[in-house]
Amino acid sequence: MITYARKDADADGAPEPAADNEHIAPAPRISVQAFCETVETAAAVQAAGEDRRLAKAHLKIQMGGMVAAIEAYKNAPTPNVIVLETEGGNDILSGLDELSGVCDAGTRVIVIGRMNDVTLYRELVRRGVSEYVIAPVTTIDVVRAICTLFSMAEAKPVGRVIAVVGAKGGVGASTVAHNIAWSIARDLALDAVVADLDLAFGTAGLDYNQDPPQGIADAVFSPDRIDTAFVDRLLSKCTDHLSLLAAPATLDRVYDFGDDAFDSIFDTLRSSVPCIVLDVPHQWSGWTKRALIAADDILIVAAPDLANLRNTKNLFDLLKGQRPNDRAPLYCLNQVGVPKRPEIKAAEFAKAIESEPSAIIPFEPQLFGLAANNGQMIEEIAKKHKVSELFVQIAQRLTGRTEAKKSRGSLLSPLLGKLMKK
Ligand SMILES: Nc1ncnc2c1ncn2[C@@H]1O[C@H](COP(=O)(O)OP(=O)(O)OP(=O)(O)O)[C@@H](O)[C@H]1O
Ligand SMILES: [Mg+2]
Repeated sequence: MITYARKDADADGAPEPAADNEHIAPAPRISVQAFCETVETAAAVQAAGEDRRLAKAHLKIQMGGMVAAIEAYKNAPTPNVIVLETEGGNDILSGLDELSGVCDAGTRVIVIGRMNDVTLYRELVRRGVSEYVIAPVTTIDVVRAICTLFSMAEAKPVGRVIAVVGAKGGVGASTVAHNIAWSIARDLALDAVVADLDLAFGTAGLDYNQDPPQGIADAVFSPDRIDTAFVDRLLSKCTDHLSLLAAPATLDRVYDFGDDAFDSIFDTLRSSVPCIVLDVPHQWSGWTKRALIAADDILIVAAPDLANLRNTKNLFDLLKGQRPNDRAPLYCLNQVGVPKRPEIKAAEFAKAIESEPSAIIPFEPQLFGLAANNGQMIEEIAKKHKVSELFVQIAQRLTGRTEAKKSRGSLLSPLLGKLMKK
């Protein structure tokens, strides 16, 4: 199907991140060859190839447009996707006719052109072109055009991965991750899975009052068995919409993983669960870095002191650099207002990071201590507490969903609300 691509390139060609609530699923291991006419388009395609969503794809770019493409495939097999830039009108169609003679079945063609013309679209559709994008194109336009070809073909619901990490150990990253996942499931009624990646010491099982016999270790140590059914069996159900992929929290083995050890688990979860919250331990290794870079969204949890500030800044800089086509990470300040403790003010923190915190969560030892010891969420023990509202807010911000589930009130509540206002 051809979609009209948005024409949102800005004048200086600066990277244009995807809209906050836009979700572009990563492309599978495909081969892509682009034939460009202009250096601007070649640069956008090149940058797209470096985007996290195309990390698995193999991309080759050359200049010469249609003519070069026809020449290239006379004697060579065609890749999964051909991206063709063309500056002309009618010659696109004759070129495509010629190309179709040498195209293998299953190859999809994306055309980047300058003409915004319905008759042309129709003719392109008739010739089996998958997508027509109007130049000038931004990096994210190219990423979107390639990735949607595959998410549509598989027609699977594709999950969004939210990685939560602490700027320092013990700042409450896991607590925040578990509470927002709970809120995503309960208040936003979105199916969610929490993956506890702190295999040795993870507390998700304790926090949700679960002691499942199996969990994430069974998956990561049996890479050959991973598929949806297998991972499904490892999940333990916490609430209607929330499941847990628990950490063993045992020390009988060590957990040194290769960079891509979790890739297939995340891919499998993405194919069947709308929202996956990763509780990423505070450590810097190949696989934690990769989990953060590959996530759809990142939440950094920081306490208001100097070390947290420095680490948050470093994480921001690294992640923004590695994810130029994504919105910046979000962060929240936690454990704010410990009595007698000198703290860095939220405004100063925000100035240094050049970004406002998504929430400022107060230090509430009684509330958090009770929740932790009871294996309950904050909202379960103090629904009306400000902290519960903060978790809902962060959940909304991260998922791009602003509407909380309405069915929790009675059927009459909208009506009552109106009457009360009078
Ligand atoms: N806002 C808060 N007020 C009071 N206590 C809190 C708050 N947030 C978290 N805590 C408590 O801080 C402790 C550490 O929390 P948590 O285990 O979530 O941190 P973490 O950053 O995941 O730590 P680790 O680095 O070990 O993974 C827990 O006992 C938790 O209940
Ligand atoms: Mg933790």
